[in-house]
Amino acid sequence: MNILKVLSLGIAAGLALAAHADNTEAVLRESMKPKNQARMDRIEQNALQTACSNAADTVANDKQARQLREAAQASVRYPANGKYLGDWRRGQMIAADGTGLQWSDDPKAANGGNCYACHQLDKQEMAYGTVGPSLLNYGQRGQSEAMLKYTWAKIWNPNAYVLCSHMPRFGDAGILTEQQLKDVMALLMDPTSPVNAELVHE
Ligand code: HEC
Repeated sequence: MNILKVLSLGIAAGLALAAHADNTEAVLRESMKPKNQARMDRIEQNALQTACSNAADTVANDKQARQLREAAQASVRYPANGKYLGDWRRGQMIAADGTGLQWSDDPKAANGGNCYACHQLDKQEMAYGTVGPSLLNYGQRGQSEAMLKYTWAKIWNPNAYVLCSHMPRFGDAGILTEQQLKDVMALLMDPTSPVNAELVHE
């Protein structure tokens, strides 16, 4: 195929997209096909996502922001037995596991947390994303009741603290189980976990 043909095909595709530019949802609906557990409800937005879906990542007014934040905070379910910390070794595997919820994944298998996709969590791991802040030495903040609750709520529903957060709602959206959340909590907060390796050996 010559270069002009390639270019004109590209332009045609560009025009087709531009025609839909005012309606991203229509493009998504036309292009996405439901398969296995990945169904069309994946593109339904909740009230907060609708409010945050603009270039500025902010909601229209303070009243709406307050209502959405309160709803996000009210969504958090704290551990029934009051114990927040599980096993950091299991937490490390969950944080590094990027499988789950795709049409090709086994819906009966446990989901991963994929934390490394956005966070640095271990000095020894070179492959990590930077969409979120580095969580190295997170344990430095201690294990007060306030820190345990903050961290739990943050992972359960990140929107409870940063309204238009881009982090997944691991508890609220049912991505991780309560036990998995505890294991990931231990990874962040246990002074002997690789996240806090520097603190221990200081
Ligand atoms: C798609 C990217 C993404 C993924 C995946 C992700 N995070 Fe985040 N995370 C963020 C972003 C962005 C922030 C900062 C903005 C905010 O607070 O929402 C953040 C903030 C945090 C914070 C608060 C940090 C602080 O300084 O108080 C914690 C704790 C956290 N993430 C833990 C996790 C854990 C544990 C996982 C895996 C189970 C995870 N994140 C997966 C994007 C992500």
